[in-house]
Amino acid sequence: MNDSTSTTSSPSAVLVTGGNRGIGLAIARSFAEAGHDVVVTHRSGEPPEGLRGVLCDVTDTEAVDRAFTEAEEILGRPIDVLVANAGITKDGLLMRMSDEDFDAVLDTNLTGAFRCARRAVKGMIRARHGRIILISSVVGLFGGAGQTNYSASKAGLVGLARSITRELGGRGITANVVAPGFIETEMTEQLPEDRQKAYLASIPAGRFASADEVARVVRWLAGPDAGYISGAVIPVDGGLGMGH
Ligand SMILES: NC(=O)c1ccc[n+]([C@@H]2O[C@H](COP(=O)([O-])OP(=O)(O)OC[C@H]3O[C@@H](n4cnc5c(N)ncnc54)[C@H](OP(=O)(O)O)[C@@H]3O)[C@@H](O)[C@H]2O)c1
Repeated sequence: MNDSTSTTSSPSAVLVTGGNRGIGLAIARSFAEAGHDVVVTHRSGEPPEGLRGVLCDVTDTEAVDRAFTEAEEILGRPIDVLVANAGITKDGLLMRMSDEDFDAVLDTNLTGAFRCARRAVKGMIRARHGRIILISSVVGLFGGAGQTNYSASKAGLVGLARSITRELGGRGITANVVAPGFIETEMTEQLPEDRQKAYLASIPAGRFASADEVARVVRWLAGPDAGYISGAVIPVDGGLGMGH
C-alpha cells in the first residue's frame, strides 16, 4: 500500500522540474540516492550525469504535458511525486518594473507550477496517491524590496498548495510548500554582496544553508512519515522568516 496512510516506503516515481542544477539537482540526487525513480526536467543540453531527463520549459503547457508523458514512459508508471522547483528572478524596483519582467516571473514560478500540478494529478487521482511539493521562498511571505514579482509568485504557491489540498486531499494527495531561505546556489551568488551580508546578519542560524538541507526536507515530505501533512508551508531558512 502506498497511500497517504502508509508507513512503509516503496520507490516513488519522482519528477523534479529544473532538476539540472542548484536546489533541484540536489533534490533529484537525494531521491535517487534513496532508491527512488527520478526524472528531471531540463531546458537544453543533456541531463546531469547519472540522472534521466526530459526537456521541458514550464512556461509552455504542451511542453509540460509532453515531459510528463515522456517521464512516465521512462519510468513505466505515473509520476507520484512532483517537485515543482523551476524558478527565476528578475528583480527591480516597483516603479521601474516592466510588465514583461513581472509576467515572466509569474509565468515561470507560479503558472509553471500550476501547469505541472494540473498534469501530475491525472495519474495521482487514479492511483489515489500523490505528493506535490512546491518550492517557494522565504521571500514569498516575508517580502523583498525589489522583488515584487518574485515574492508575489512565491506567495501564490501557498494558495495553490492549499487549494489543491482542499480539492484533492480526500484522494490521497498532499500538496505542500517548502520555503527555503538563503541557499548557496548560482541564483544567490548573483545577489549583490551588501544584500548577502544583510541577509546573513538577519538569519538567527548565523549561516546560509546548503541545497542538501532543502533536499532532505523535500524528501521527508514525499515520504510515508509526512502523509498527514498537507497545505503546510515548511520553512528551511534558519529562522529568517520566522512568524510569517
Ligand atoms: N537559491 C536560493 O537561495 C533560493 C532560496 C529560496 C527559494 N529558491 C527557489 O528554489 C528554486 C531553485 O532555485 P536555485 O537557486 O536552484 O536556482 P537556479 O540555480 O537558478 O536553478 C533554477 C532552475 O530552474 C530552471 N528553470 C528556470 N526557468 C525555467 C523554465 N521556464 N522552465 C523550466 N525550467 C526552468 C533552470 O533551468 P536552466 O538550467 O535551463 O536555466 C534551473 O534548472 C527556485 O524556484 C527558487 O526560486 C532558491
